Amino acid sequence: MGRGLFISFEGIDGAGKSTHVEALADRMRAAGRTVVLTREPGGTPLAEQIRSLALHQAMDPLTEALLMFAARRDHLQQVIEPALVRGDTVLCDRFTDATFAYQGGGRGFDWQTLSDLERMVQSLPASEDGLAPELRQPDLTLWFDLAPSIAAERLAGARLPDRFESQPVAFFEAVRAGYARRMEEGPSRFARVDADQAREKVWDDVCRSVQTRGWI
Ligand code: TMP
Repeated sequence: MGRGLFISFEGIDGAGKSTHVEALADRMRAAGRTVVLTREPGGTPLAEQIRSLALHQAMDPLTEALLMFAARRDHLQQVIEPALVRGDTVLCDRFTDATFAYQGGGRGFDWQTLSDLERMVQSLPASEDGLAPELRQPDLTLWFDLAPSIAAERLAGARLPDRFESQPVAFFEAVRAGYARRMEEGPSRFARVDADQAREKVWDDVCRSVQTRGWI
């Protein structure tokens, strides 16, 4: 088991999480932590190549789900687990909840199959006392929740959309429902942040979620 801290950032495209990832990295560094800032899909040379395929090439839902988990496996082995062993703080722009939300919720891919893949990819060695968790999961997942119609307005004209950003609002309604289901399944790990507020208010909520856990 790593000694570090693992925080993931989630939400539909346009929810505005990315600026807060950077800001929290600065805040954590100011608090004396060594921060590894990374993202999924991506975070290693191999996973970044998978990212460009997954975001731009047409493929069936199983291929898409397998690629997300393949990228994650490499990312865990090369970056996340070594950082946690060193005691670093890993801030990850998206992790497995995105697969459940986008491939499970958005694409309608079988939830149980995703759980099986999650187990395969994120299993940890059994601890001697049996108290440690069996699966690598973030210590905290900040879910930036926003109505898809508002997110679509924010995204409009921002840049050339990829295969996900170009989906209709109904797709993002299903992605949002996927995040809600994940939060129901593991509520202690999640903090839902209302992303339909001024940026400073969102930032206050982010800080509060981290402070109440005693991490800054
Ligand atoms: P980003 O634009 O926030 O970096 O995320 C890239 C896109 O990939 C985003 O639209 C969500 C999508 N995605 C999935 O569909 N499944 C996943 O497992 C991950 C990590 C991202």
